[in-house]
Amino acid sequence: MKTILVTGGTGYIGSHTTVELIQAGYQVIILDNLYNSSREVLKRIQAITGVLPKFYEKDLLDPAALQMVFKENAIDAVIHFAGYKAVGESVEIPLTYYQNNIAGSLNLYEAMKEAGCRKLVFSSSATVYGNPQSVPIREDFPLSTTNPYGTTKLFNERILEDLCISDPSWSVLLLRYFNPIGAHPSGLIGETPNGIPNNLVPYIAQVATGKREFLRVWGNDYDTVDGTGVRDYIHVVDLAQGHLKALEYAFSHTGAETVNLGTGNGYSVLQVKNAFEKACGKEIPYQIMERRPGDIAICYADTAKAKKLLGWNARYGIDEMCRDSWNFQSKNPNGIEKAQ
Ligand code: NAD
Ligand code: UFG
Repeated sequence: MKTILVTGGTGYIGSHTTVELIQAGYQVIILDNLYNSSREVLKRIQAITGVLPKFYEKDLLDPAALQMVFKENAIDAVIHFAGYKAVGESVEIPLTYYQNNIAGSLNLYEAMKEAGCRKLVFSSSATVYGNPQSVPIREDFPLSTTNPYGTTKLFNERILEDLCISDPSWSVLLLRYFNPIGAHPSGLIGETPNGIPNNLVPYIAQVATGKREFLRVWGNDYDTVDGTGVRDYIHVVDLAQGHLKALEYAFSHTGAETVNLGTGNGYSVLQVKNAFEKACGKEIPYQIMERRPGDIAICYADTAKAKKLLGWNARYGIDEMCRDSWNFQSKNPNGIEKAQ
């Protein structure tokens, strides 16, 4: 049985990936400092899989703790989710973002190197494409970033590519996620944003529960199907399964590969709103507002490389994504931490 260290494993995408890993027969060790998640997630993972993953409440910024985890366990590969992810916040406190997402990641890579563990799957983001010249977006498109969060992703990609050049025995998958939404069909794990959600679907979900009055649609004058922004939403369970395929690839190849994880389909803000209304059986009131600074009009993935290299493609459609988001939201109106 292979042992996988999942950093950020109690977080949104990490918890779903942990479930898929356990169900596929891997042994999972989670490392998380619980900055943006809670211990309760471990119990939820156990309720779904029957297995309570081994857990280290440790920080990436503590190199000795990372070394200890590798000393205490024979780790075959790492999936690295841990990091800060709020775009707006990264503009306000860039040093904190660079410290956590870059210095913290460097500590992890050093600990891996020391332990002789050279297989890694890294969470990157479609944000590294900046404002793409055309869609669908291919992995070889030019890269640029418009905020410190995006820059931490791009720097990590470069660091890991350099590492693979310096030592060809490394095997690294750089996965560029598009817009993950949805939740595990059990309704036991999902996304629980703190405060006012920035992202579309968590915000709509709170309008549906009555926590927010109406959806603010950031602009309807883009050159898109109905003027509102278009994104490639992907079910988090599909995304999690993409990580298993990436891991299998890492176990049988060396070198660095970059792969988009999206569905290849774009949906507008209003199309997502309509799909969510269908899922929850309620009307979602909305108002058209000014464009949100930094937003792009259209973003969706070219998925050919994921299919060819990993043999993976997304299976869930927008209706299932909204159904599962709503199922989780209605069962956990105050998020996971406060659930009884
Ligand atoms: P999340 O915040 O739910 O999970 C991240 C986890 O990392 C949290 O549990 C947090 O407590 C932990 N963490 C943060 N800093 C840490 C540190 N220094 N030491 C130990 N643990 C730490 O986020 P998510 O949505 O699951 O995202 C996972 C990864 O995917 C992140 O790297 C994120 O940037 C990337 N990503 C997310 C999205 C998205 O829309 N959710 C899109 C593209 C890329
Ligand atoms: N939107 C609204 N109202 C809201 C929230 C969002 O109209 O309240 C619109 C946005 O303008 C955009 C679309 O819904 O057109 C999606 O917005 P999100 O904030 O959900 O997602 P983004 O595509 O802007 O950003 C996401 C992640 C980033 C990541 C980026 C690229 O949040 O971390 O995808 O991968 F960098």
